[in-house]
Amino acid sequence: MEHTVVDRGLEGVVVGSTVLSNVEGLEGRLTYRGYDIHDLAQNASFEEVCYLLLFGQLPNTFQLEDLNVRLKANRMLPHALIKWMQTTPKDAWPMDVVRTIVSGLAEFVPHLEDGSHESNPRAAIHLIAKTPTIVAAWDRIRRDLEPIEPLPDLSTAANFLYMRTGETPTKIAEKALDVYLVLLADHSYNASTFAARVTASTRADIFACATSALAALEGDLHGGAPGKVMKMILDIGKPDRAEAYVHQLLARGERVMGMGHREYKVRDPRAQHLEKMAKELGASSDPKWYEIARSLEDAANKIFQAEKPGKRIYANVEFYTAPTLYSLGIPADEFTCMFACGRMAGWTAHILEQLGDNRLIRPQAAYTGPPVQAYVPIESRSSAKPNGATKKAEGAA
Ligand code: COA
Repeated sequence: MEHTVVDRGLEGVVVGSTVLSNVEGLEGRLTYRGYDIHDLAQNASFEEVCYLLLFGQLPNTFQLEDLNVRLKANRMLPHALIKWMQTTPKDAWPMDVVRTIVSGLAEFVPHLEDGSHESNPRAAIHLIAKTPTIVAAWDRIRRDLEPIEPLPDLSTAANFLYMRTGETPTKIAEKALDVYLVLLADHSYNASTFAARVTASTRADIFACATSALAALEGDLHGGAPGKVMKMILDIGKPDRAEAYVHQLLARGERVMGMGHREYKVRDPRAQHLEKMAKELGASSDPKWYEIARSLEDAANKIFQAEKPGKRIYANVEFYTAPTLYSLGIPADEFTCMFACGRMAGWTAHILEQLGDNRLIRPQAAYTGPPVQAYVPIESRSSAKPNGATKKAEGAA
């Protein structure tokens, strides 16, 4: 193994293929099945994008209507899972709740467990339809409110906002969330999608695959970033404080959340649409969050150019997610759950794609431990006490 090249983080390593989406990081281009994200963000609904990802083409009117009927029919959660949420501590981390309920759905939604994919497209619809219901239900339950049942005549975006408040959202709020869901729906082999595909490759069921994806999404180098972007915006408080804040952050060795990307070496193409949404939402309510975000991006660009020349760190999708979702009234600790609502479309499409041409994903590692050695019986091992061992621990029965 002496000369083995280790690709830490698999940067630049091609581990599989997909027809679902393509990230061209140097050009700043993202396409879903060949359609440019700019066209989709401006013209397509989230439901159209779900159809595109799951079934291979943009739907005609009848196909879209059929998918809408199925999504709407499957939004309700099993009563037992609502009950579980009602007995969960109110301070539970929202992503923990979403991950647990998605995993629990395996016991309630009919599906085949042997990895054959007859029932998986149906289960995918359940997962896409039910994830926003889980997020909205937990949002209310943690605030000591009764969950609100989904309204079948509303779109995914409008229905989610309705389930949080009981009020039909404004057109601009619905549009902003719909655009957000479109933009987040897929992104090639990102960490959570790869986790879903690894799990699918073992022929685990689709709920186990989605649970793996949710677990991988949570970290702040992936889907956990936007909540932290919002924390920066709240800490900054006023646009003219952004520059000093970035200097302090970098001096402490911390990162500007929502900036930088493994693939994009230019501004993330999704950022411009979310910036527009954050600005429009701000104009109809409170422009402060957008204005601080804008000034933070300007400050970070200026400082990165001066202090990290050549690193090419620019706003990613999470950056303007923060003021967009916050302006919609969604609390920062639920932002990752919102990411999951959009990405569930991509995850399920990737799981189906993986199962359609499956091979167990099992890479190798360069072993860097001790060489082969003889087993030592316990009575012959060193009798030194571990540091910090206490009498109580030693004497514990
Ligand atoms: N703030 C400050 N410095 C950053 C940075 C950020 N947001 N993103 C990257 N860098 C710097 C690193 O400090 C490093 O500098 P160094 O070489 O002087 O140590 C260099 O850029 C490369 O960083 P690295 O972490 O190796 O790059 P990566 O390809 O793994 O980075 C991310 C991708 C997303 C992990 C990284 O940009 C990041 O941590 N961003 C903030 C979290 C975030 O927004 N996550 C959501 C991603 S969609």
